[in-house]
Amino acid sequence: MENAELDFFIEKVNSQSDIVEVISRYVQLNMRGGRYWACCPFHNEKTASFSVTPEKGFFYCFGCHVGGNVFKFLSLIENITYFEAVKLQAERLGIEIPTQNKSEQEVERDSEEKILHKINNDAKIFYHNYLTKTSQGALGRKYLNARGITDDVIEKFQLGFAPDSWDGLSKNFLQRGYKVEELLAAGLVSKRKSGEGVYDRMRARVIIPIANILGQTVGFGGRILNAADEKSPKYLNTPETILFNKRNLLFGLDKAHIAISNKNFAIVVEGYMDAISLWSAGIENVVATLGTAFTPEHAKLIMRYARKIVFCYDSDEAGQKATLRALPIVSELGAEVSVVNIPDGKDPDDFIRKHGKSDFEKIVTNARSLIEYRMNYVLRTIEHSTIEGKVHALKEILPVVLNETDSTRQSEYRKKIASALVLDESVVRSEWQKLSGQDKIQRVKGTKLKIEVDEAIKQAGAVALRVAWQDIDTLNYTLSMVPKNIFPKVQQEIISYLETCLAENRRPDNVTAAVQLSDSANAELSKIIIDSIDDRKENEVAAFDDSVKVLHKAYLKNRHAELLKELNKCMLGGNLAKADEILKSLKKIKSELDGL
Ligand code: UTP
Ligand code: MN
Repeated sequence: MENAELDFFIEKVNSQSDIVEVISRYVQLNMRGGRYWACCPFHNEKTASFSVTPEKGFFYCFGCHVGGNVFKFLSLIENITYFEAVKLQAERLGIEIPTQNKSEQEVERDSEEKILHKINNDAKIFYHNYLTKTSQGALGRKYLNARGITDDVIEKFQLGFAPDSWDGLSKNFLQRGYKVEELLAAGLVSKRKSGEGVYDRMRARVIIPIANILGQTVGFGGRILNAADEKSPKYLNTPETILFNKRNLLFGLDKAHIAISNKNFAIVVEGYMDAISLWSAGIENVVATLGTAFTPEHAKLIMRYARKIVFCYDSDEAGQKATLRALPIVSELGAEVSVVNIPDGKDPDDFIRKHGKSDFEKIVTNARSLIEYRMNYVLRTIEHSTIEGKVHALKEILPVVLNETDSTRQSEYRKKIASALVLDESVVRSEWQKLSGQDKIQRVKGTKLKIEVDEAIKQAGAVALRVAWQDIDTLNYTLSMVPKNIFPKVQQEIISYLETCLAENRRPDNVTAAVQLSDSANAELSKIIIDSIDDRKENEVAAFDDSVKVLHKAYLKNRHAELLKELNKCMLGGNLAKADEILKSLKKIKSELDGL
């Protein structure tokens, strides 16, 4: 796309976008005091500090300081680039995306992806047919039937079987005209270690196709028939390819996302078979990781559909450890997390086959909150019969429960900890207070005064820039009173942007600002704009005057300090003529300061 065409496209999408409508898809916005508020989707909080102003097209979180326009929001919440966000919003609005003038690299990558999609789809059909339509597939069918997987489920998940041969798939695919490099790039074959040629990666395994969110097959998991065979791994997966990245994929999400939206939560399990088994039993809001740790990318994928994530990992040690590792990742992103403990049986697949759907639903309803889960884990794993053990356990637990802001629950946890450790509740309470106090003391320490001065400048700068955003001509006046370098760095960046607007004789707007400003400057700008939606309108002129005064004063004080240093140098160096000159300037500044 040409630049002008691109600008036109982005502007078109922006002008048709309603930031409130877009954000409402993800968080519940409430109107209060002339702007919209919500609990921030980008950090964990209980009281709303995330704000949106529809007229100006900005959002800003007063808690975690992210902010920007509608595309910035989409790029953060969907975990995509800024331009991908523009495209996504265009798609949602039904605005056609201009496709001409892609770079050579983009064109190449597109065609490579296209071929890999086709190969993967053909491979899925190949394995599926091999399972369902050939006599050699009987082995696979027998295995799946023995595990209670019906033909319906085989169809639904397009399960397959790989031939028990080194070239079952590759021979067939080469005959169809695919190139060896293409088979390699798709991860379907591997290079022979010695000698020439390639061999099939999956052999004599039940094949589980793995799709991206659009339902396109991007890779496979292959399960060995006899897990007692210790020579090969139980599951073999497609290696990393340009389509297949385990960090960004969740097995089943293409099918589960509707149920996840409807039920308002997702169940995350560890194994393909767990997901398939739950689905067969009628639990559809379930996804599985691909044998790797749960990542922030996974969380963001799920959070497109629901903010609540229920972990239902295996009840063995490895599963519990994996749960503990996953939890902070998710809660940091602001999702509501809970954990299901499988009381009987190793994994969800086991449990639901033994006890059925409604019992599974019961244990999901009784899932523990993140805090309870970690508290229980510590109590279970740390020996706490001795005094030393009690102290140790208390030290491990308290940081976990400190996150709880609800006072009723705080007191519940205190009771629980006290009774589990056989301690007096007052002991728990005093340790709790000590720990939460420490945090505060640290925050107060340090250069408090300097922070206050900087904060005053920043606030005054914000007012001046807010006025300049409405009326760009005021920028010249402000800059005549205060040099740019007095403003905090982020605000200087905004000033540079406003200066280009002035030079190009156009009004500032949230789209060009989003492109030109860094993330932190964008956030600052959003904050500045959002702050104005108060009832201060009539005082705006007075506020502006005051702010310029504050800034001007800060500038003079700075200048005074600088000149004093210079004066010292000149006196020491014997440059008396220069010193005299400086002295004059100092006097002038002093009298101006006194006048303010
Ligand atoms: P599990 O062994 O718990 O899988 O490993 P499962 O789905 O319950 O297997 P079944 O019921 O015995 O058939 C959990 C996940 O870890 C990955 C797979 O994604 C599997 O689903 N895994 C496991 C591997 O990638 N390779 C392995 O060798 C084992
Ligand atoms: Mn299993």
